[in-house]
Amino acid sequence: MLRILAVASLVALGATAVMAQNAAGIAARKEVLKSFGGAAKEPGAMAKGDAPFDAAKVQASLKTFEDGAIKLKGMFGDDTKTGDTNALPAAFENKADLMAKFDKLAADSKAAAAAIKDEASFKSEWPKVVSNCGGCHKAYRKPN
Ligand code: HEC
Repeated sequence: MLRILAVASLVALGATAVMAQNAAGIAARKEVLKSFGGAAKEPGAMAKGDAPFDAAKVQASLKTFEDGAIKLKGMFGDDTKTGDTNALPAAFENKADLMAKFDKLAADSKAAAAAIKDEASFKSEWPKVVSNCGGCHKAYRKPN
């Protein structure tokens, strides 16, 4: 009897730990993605001609995308499928494709960082990078 109780409470403890882990995992994932939103903002204004071209800021944003995309590959565990998340179930059902999309964002960001030498090359490279954002959101993020 005591043993059964002990096992039951261990199971209950385990369940609580898993739930807590979920929430933290989802929050951490959103933080990385939020940093993408921040990094996209200024270069986005530069691309539209609403802000002066700033090579250092562009390079910093590309680095945020490249590093973040690699980090995000490890942040879609099945224990982060439900909860306070806007990720669609499809993201977890097509994980190979999700991972390929993050790889592509990392690779395109790296390629753009090498190719961007001036405002003209920025204007041709930047759209290639940010097309990755919308492409994945359309497939795997709940529309707002
Ligand atoms: C391979 C898929 C994928 C790519 C590429 C991607 N995102 Fe997302 N993004 C998501 C998913 C899924 C969510 C929802 C995450 C959640 O709620 O758990 C999201 C959420 C976000 C959010 C909201 C974060 C929050 O505060 O909740 C922002 C902002 C964002 N993405 C910006 C970007 C930008 C900018 C890019 C391109 C540089 C990008 N994302 C590329 C899949 C992607």
